[in-house]
Amino acid sequence: MIGLLLLLLPLLDFIFVFTAAQNRPPYTPTESILINCGASSDDASQDGRRWNGDAQSKFCPFNSQTSPLSEASQQGHSVDRVPYMTARIIHSKLTCTFPVLPGPKFVRLYFYPDTYSGLSTSASFFTVTANNYTLLSNFSAYLAVSAKIQPVPYVFKEFIVTVWDNQELKLTFTPSPSSFAFINGVEIVSLPNYLYTKDMDNRYTFVYSDSNPFFYFDNSTSLETVYRLNVGGGLVGNINDTGMFRTWFDDSKYIFGATGLAHEWRDDVTINYTKDTPAYTAPATVYTTKRSMGAEPSVNLKYNLTWRFPVDSGFSYLVRLHFCETEESITDTNQWLFFIFINNMTAEAEADVFHWGRGRDIPVYKDYVIQVPKESPINQDLWLSLHPNNHSNPKYADAILNGLEIFKLNKSDGNLAGPNPEVPAPPEQHPSLGRRTKSKGSSETIVIVGAVIGAFAFAVVVFSFFCVYRRKAKAKDTSSSATIALSLPTDLCRKFTMAEIRASTRNFDDQNIIGSGGFGTVYKGYIESGSIPAAIKRLASSSKQGIREFHTEIQMLSKLRHVHLVSLIGYCNDQDEMILVYEYMPHGTLQDHLYKTMSPPLPWKQRLEICIGAARGLHYLHTGSNQSVIHRDVKSSNILLDRNWVAKVSDFGLSKTGPAGEDQTHVSTVVRGSFGYLDPEYYRRQQLTEKSDVYSFGVVLLEVLCSRPPVISNLPKEEVILVEWARKYYQRGALDQIIDPQLKGDITLVSLNKFGEIADSCVRDVAIERPTMGDVTWSLEFALQLHETAEKNVSARDDVSESQKLINTDDDEQCTISCGPMSYSRSTASTGERSTSNYDADKK
Ligand SMILES: *[C@@H]1O[C@H](CO)[C@@H](O)[C@H](O)[C@H]1NC(C)=O
Ligand SMILES: *[C@@H]1O[C@H](CO)[C@@H](O)[C@H](O)[C@H]1NC(C)=O
Ligand SMILES: *[C@@H]1O[C@H](CO)[C@@H](O)[C@H](O)[C@H]1NC(C)=O
Ligand SMILES: *[C@@H]1O[C@H](CO)[C@@H](O)[C@H](O)[C@H]1NC(C)=O
Ligand SMILES: *[C@@H]1O[C@H](CO)[C@@H](O)[C@H](O)[C@H]1NC(C)=O
Ligand SMILES: *[C@@H]1O[C@H](CO)[C@@H](O)[C@H](O)[C@H]1NC(C)=O
Ligand SMILES: *[C@@H]1O[C@H](CO)[C@@H](O)[C@H](O)[C@H]1NC(C)=O
Ligand SMILES: *[C@@H]1O[C@H](CO)[C@@H](O)[C@H](O)[C@H]1NC(C)=O
Ligand SMILES: *[C@@H]1O[C@H](CO)[C@@H](O)[C@H](O)[C@H]1NC(C)=O
Repeated sequence: MIGLLLLLLPLLDFIFVFTAAQNRPPYTPTESILINCGASSDDASQDGRRWNGDAQSKFCPFNSQTSPLSEASQQGHSVDRVPYMTARIIHSKLTCTFPVLPGPKFVRLYFYPDTYSGLSTSASFFTVTANNYTLLSNFSAYLAVSAKIQPVPYVFKEFIVTVWDNQELKLTFTPSPSSFAFINGVEIVSLPNYLYTKDMDNRYTFVYSDSNPFFYFDNSTSLETVYRLNVGGGLVGNINDTGMFRTWFDDSKYIFGATGLAHEWRDDVTINYTKDTPAYTAPATVYTTKRSMGAEPSVNLKYNLTWRFPVDSGFSYLVRLHFCETEESITDTNQWLFFIFINNMTAEAEADVFHWGRGRDIPVYKDYVIQVPKESPINQDLWLSLHPNNHSNPKYADAILNGLEIFKLNKSDGNLAGPNPEVPAPPEQHPSLGRRTKSKGSSETIVIVGAVIGAFAFAVVVFSFFCVYRRKAKAKDTSSSATIALSLPTDLCRKFTMAEIRASTRNFDDQNIIGSGGFGTVYKGYIESGSIPAAIKRLASSSKQGIREFHTEIQMLSKLRHVHLVSLIGYCNDQDEMILVYEYMPHGTLQDHLYKTMSPPLPWKQRLEICIGAARGLHYLHTGSNQSVIHRDVKSSNILLDRNWVAKVSDFGLSKTGPAGEDQTHVSTVVRGSFGYLDPEYYRRQQLTEKSDVYSFGVVLLEVLCSRPPVISNLPKEEVILVEWARKYYQRGALDQIIDPQLKGDITLVSLNKFGEIADSCVRDVAIERPTMGDVTWSLEFALQLHETAEKNVSARDDVSESQKLINTDDDEQCTISCGPMSYSRSTASTGERSTSNYDADKK
């Protein structure tokens, strides 16, 4: 039955896509060309669109000698087969000619830098031009992918090029000297004439201090899309765009500092499009969802809501901001005014969305051009900040943003290409700790440098110090992390004075304590003159080890920024104190919501979303920065939940340090494990890999499923250890007997089975049998998808097949002993809050 359902799933997806497409989008492109390069026949991509194979391409003169078709050597988990799994390898200059109508076109180029017929694309550098514009120059898709904050295996680039009358669109691929080019997919889609470019007599606001307030460009300028975000909402996939197949990403990972308030859901508002903002401008979901500063005007007046966007230096950028006033309390102009700063310059002093739209629910967008000067760093951040204006009604001191697009404009010579990013990460990995390679214990050197330092209250905690390090290919890179830099990165996070810390915690008042452990005490405090809550961790000792941990935590945390990692606001090291200031997590730890708690049980979907978030955070730790970071203490009490229930991994990297010299190939790190979570292989063989985190995470998954701690010593022997106990039930196919009884009627059987399979694979005794965190993330997302599909089918139809039914056993005997407290009843109101489901695969 379940097998059948699994077979049907892709079909269900397809039907869904099909019906969604029935709602005719506001814009129908006159041209839409999709070429799946290297494919011999036509095929559909996941979004249901049909791509043409290019074996007998009418656009490109491919020839099997100079441009063979080729298949990728492996399919990464998030990699769609179409168009990414096949490619054209291009050995000499090649021009594809598209006979299209005059007008602006989106040109989207898709790259999956894998190995093709034994040819590694890490050696591929090439230039792409479209008519007289240089889109990419000496471009390396491999470097582009490797440089991402959150690594994704593929990249697509989007450009807007206007094709003139009596002109064709010519795309030319030119390999760099002694290199080759490759391409997986090409998409050409037309767009409305004046969507992004204007006539010369229309002008753009030019944000540039003391200079000409206007900037002009017309359709002779080509653009590259660098960001397109549905601010405060989630991902809007290309098929849900207004007909141009643009993808709108989630904005949260670009936020700097306080995240404001995401208004992710609104279904009682109908967006009233206008002549100035036609319905194709942006999908209605972009305008209904938004991010505001927060509910407390006095707090809002004290901070800036800020985003930072890495961009190439030396270009001008078009920044398009989308707004829509949807609050019923706003009834007139001048009620709600705010500043818009771009790169710290005032782009708008009295933004008044109601006034701009001339009413509620009317969308508007504002365009600004900003020059990012050519300075030494090839990359700079483009800053966007919002701040309430004092002239607004004090009741409404707030600011909003619904959507954002940032485009790079070509330089006067028609060039759009920036340099390749500098990727400090090594192209090769140390064989013992590589992401995909198996851990071969014998070849791995482990240096033990430490000793036991403490214990936590509720479980025996094993602390040991081990050193593990992934060798870097370039000595240059090694040296950058070689020494424990004692200068702290004041540019990356804020330094607080002791007086500020004392004021914020009422002089470390006991009533402010929100946690404690071997490391010290955590207080809730209010920083920025009492306006912003923060978690303030005061380290206990000023031992030599403590100092090092303190420094490295700051160094690491200021480098590692991810929506699923708790972020560091600042630190204080006055008066021999070591204090770390983190963002405050209103919903506490995941453990707080599973057992030993009075809070209402979490619905299954939310549990899945929390697990996905935490898995993404760990995946980022393992693979996201140039050095693999192993958490070493993954447990439900180290997974924190923010006000939108987004999971954030905390307490990581406390003791990670770089190697002391160039030829030393190991990093000293403190290895900690909590009893019940500890990887048995690591314990036995004392070899630490990312897979130890995977094991601990598997234990967390079981906790989430059963709502009980990993160890309960006063139970019958076979039930003491959660992993052992659950494994027995799993092997009998009886996992449903030990799940949290509160999940009954909520959890779907398909998702339970998938979830059980994931948890079981994570807690395998042998590390190499465990999946990577990337695999785990993907599988959990799949479990969520299974759950949502099954639920939809249950609610949509009466004749539910057995396999889709929600589990509803009456047999809770099994659980009454072991599955956490059940004295409270299930809250059916699922609080209306959806947790942010961030789309990490940044396809930008
Ligand atoms: C470019 O813009 C001009 C007006 O500025 C317009 O007359 C012309 O038709 C446009 N060309 C194309 C190909 O869209
Ligand atoms: C584009 O380049 C071609 C030569 O490659 C040249 O003939 C043509 O005038 C150029 N067009 C523009 C608009 O600069
Ligand atoms: C292309 O880029 C690579 C890496 O950024 C660089 O090493 C190489 O010299 C560049 N080649 C050319 C022709 O600019
Ligand atoms: C498109 O929108 C529908 C309905 O909101 C949603 O269920 C689906 O996941 C979306 N698809 C993509 C690819 O964003
Ligand atoms: C939409 O906005 C216009 C003004 O731009 C207004 O006249 C019209 O009544 C609005 N329609 C709805 C349904 O609110
Ligand atoms: C904007 O100001 C912040 C400090 O307030 C600074 O760190 C940043 O570099 C500035 N950004 C630009 C683009 O000048
Ligand atoms: C907000 O940003 C602007 C521009 O960078 C800056 O002048 C101002 O001081 C900031 N305000 C706060 C409260 O940080
Ligand atoms: C805003 O108004 C308050 C009180 O009216 C004043 O104290 C504060 O300095 C003002 N801030 C700015 C940025 O003008
Ligand atoms: C883009 O390139 C075209 C053609 O070279 C040029 O006419 C135009 O001025 C450039 N745009 C900008 C903003 O420099």
